[in-house]
Amino acid sequence: MTPLLQIKDLSIQFRTDEATVNAINGVNLTVPAGGAVAIVGESGSGKSTVMMAAPRLLPGNAVVHGEIWFDGRDLMTLNEKQMRSLRGREIGVIFQNPTAYLNPTKTIGQQIVEPLLYHHIASAKRAKEEAIDLLDQVGIGDPRGRFDMYPFEFSGGMLQRVMIAMALIASPKLLIADEPTTALDVTVQAEILMLLKKLQRERGMALVFVTHDLAVAAQLCDEVYVMYGGMVMEHLPVPQLVRASKHPYLRGLIQSIPPLDGPVEPLPYIPGNPISTTRPLPAGCIFAERCAAKMSVCEKRPPLIDFDQQHQVACWLAEKGGIA
Ligand SMILES: Nc1ncnc2c1ncn2[C@@H]1O[C@H](COP(=O)(O)OP(=O)(O)OP(=O)(O)O)[C@@H](O)[C@H]1O
Ligand SMILES: [Mg+2]
Repeated sequence: MTPLLQIKDLSIQFRTDEATVNAINGVNLTVPAGGAVAIVGESGSGKSTVMMAAPRLLPGNAVVHGEIWFDGRDLMTLNEKQMRSLRGREIGVIFQNPTAYLNPTKTIGQQIVEPLLYHHIASAKRAKEEAIDLLDQVGIGDPRGRFDMYPFEFSGGMLQRVMIAMALIASPKLLIADEPTTALDVTVQAEILMLLKKLQRERGMALVFVTHDLAVAAQLCDEVYVMYGGMVMEHLPVPQLVRASKHPYLRGLIQSIPPLDGPVEPLPYIPGNPISTTRPLPAGCIFAERCAAKMSVCEKRPPLIDFDQQHQVACWLAEKGGIA
């Protein structure tokens, strides 16, 4: 498939009064048109930072280097006006906490109608019907009745559905969902995930799903990028995840998924703390200090080794065929 989004050698630092945070350190990432890609990693691994760089939604203290190509354009070279139009029309974004992005003083209907009009997607006459149709598509029951309600009258799951509707307003080619279900209980989470999958398939839209939950990533997506310390540790197709993954960090994440049918036993977990990105990164492998399979060669930083076009691993073990 042709890449819709291509991130090349991306590095991002945050400058604060106390320190410089090396949040992203040379990331390459490709999202095919119509594909579903998961970005997985522990808290602080740089998942949100890397994905918010594409729609340029990073805070002002971020310093970005590298290339971000979207549908044939280098986004790093677009001006703010061009970016604003692209964000509204071509890249939709869903965040973790919908209440932070919805206006509590406006009805749900108003908040969908306004962007429909702003982006000239619907005429003033048609906008209400379009908005009701969108609410219906994201599974809001009685969308006509709920059109005039305020955000406080909606449950968390319904608000997340509204956020999805808002992100879909202009039929974007790419939808970025940053941990959209972590604040919801598991049954609502499952419904929202199914909705995202359905919409992605029906609309032929590409989806980037950011999550710390590998099991959810595997359910929803075709391929996974596993991040650690602002770098990609491994990238591979979901069907190969269990059988072919090589990186000890990813193997650890896989082993920490509780089996549904097994006895309740303590699960293996990855010991140690995530690497600090406020200090200069070690010269060697950034995962080495937590790695049970550490070797002397790990004092040298492993390159991203290509297994094949769809599978890359940043680990010296990969040269030997992976860990036992
Ligand atoms: N505005 C900021 N200023 C300074 N540092 C920041 C800023 N935003 C993020 N960081 C730092 O950048 C690193 C990557 O953060 P990021 O939010 O991308 O991680 P994440 O993988 O999305 O984590 P989480 O799962 O907690 O959302 C972290 O060390 C974080 O503290
Ligand atoms: Mg995040």
